[in-house]
Amino acid sequence: MTNDQTRQPTQPTVAVFGTKPYDRDALSAANDGRVDLRFLDKHLDPHNAALAEGCQAVCAFVNDDLGPETIGRLAKLDIDVIAMRCAGVNNVDLDAAKSHNIAVVNVPSYSPEAVAEHCLGLMLSLNRGIHRAHNRVREQNFSLTGLLGFNLHGKTIGIIGTGQIGTALARISRGFGMRILAHDPNQSSECVELGARYVALDVLLADSDIISLHCPLVPETHHLIGTEEVQAMRDGVMLINTSRGALVDSSALIAGLKSGKIGYLGLDVYEEEQSLFFRDLSSSVITDDVFSRLLTFPNVLITGHQAFFTADALGQIAETTIDNIATHFKQSESSIEP
Ligand code: NAI
Repeated sequence: MTNDQTRQPTQPTVAVFGTKPYDRDALSAANDGRVDLRFLDKHLDPHNAALAEGCQAVCAFVNDDLGPETIGRLAKLDIDVIAMRCAGVNNVDLDAAKSHNIAVVNVPSYSPEAVAEHCLGLMLSLNRGIHRAHNRVREQNFSLTGLLGFNLHGKTIGIIGTGQIGTALARISRGFGMRILAHDPNQSSECVELGARYVALDVLLADSDIISLHCPLVPETHHLIGTEEVQAMRDGVMLINTSRGALVDSSALIAGLKSGKIGYLGLDVYEEEQSLFFRDLSSSVITDDVFSRLLTFPNVLITGHQAFFTADALGQIAETTIDNIATHFKQSESSIEP
């Protein structure tokens, strides 16, 4: 939906919230003068929305707050489009945007392999204790005790959500000689060709050695993995979540780790990550006790939402974002009657 009431300038000014040096580099490199980029360090939330004054578009990321209050404030500034530089729009109140006639665009597809390969990195590191071995060897401790792994070859991976990333992971898993179970209301013909067997969620949970989550966060998938689902898994299962934190109930994961039901846990996302990820908190006290507890387990590996973070993916995100914004204003202009 676009706001076609007013003619926009040919080169729209975009308030780009929550930018890091790598975002600025990628967006500047992709910008061919079609938009005017105003880079901001601050995250977008109701208090910082005023920083977009004088702009026609805002660009935001996964942990920005685009709830109804923020969107109401952006509407008062006559913001015409919200350009998400990510795939997920779960942090955007789409109804509020619609009611204020603000268009929302995103980057539905960028290098699904980047995320799938990071998943595999988590799996291999957890399985073989590569991160622990690295620390040991630096301390001249060459003991192998506690580093016993298992072959991925011949094991069963359960992929929940076989869209672009889930399918990329299925391709990699096939290369490793794994049996693939899949669960998704929409079957991927490529996954079927790769030998994946689509099963009900309870079957996938019960029969997988490794479970990886790749469905979007929507109301129906909130805490998709809770206490009951953890209990339904194989003893010692490896669970990987690189999708969205709130797909899993972190308390259920902690209980599963304590009982030994979960043998390995790899997380790139966390339900309350907004107050943690994408910043250096090494001199701060973390007050989130659930997160702190997760960090104490030797069989948990957490990365700070970096699965997407490859040069290839950043370039694609930047190009699509600039293109989305420029195209939006071009269409708005052409839809105005002279
Ligand atoms: P996609 O839209 O291509 O695929 C999502 C799949 O999930 C679809 O096939 C859909 O039918 C399926 N699905 C929906 N509800 C389901 C349910 N209840 N159970 C099982 N499957 C269900 O999305 P894509 O590109 O594969 O991304 C998946 C998710 O990965 C995104 O929603 C995003 O949250 C996350 N992501 C994480 C990144 C990171 O850096 N950690 C980067 C990019 C995406």
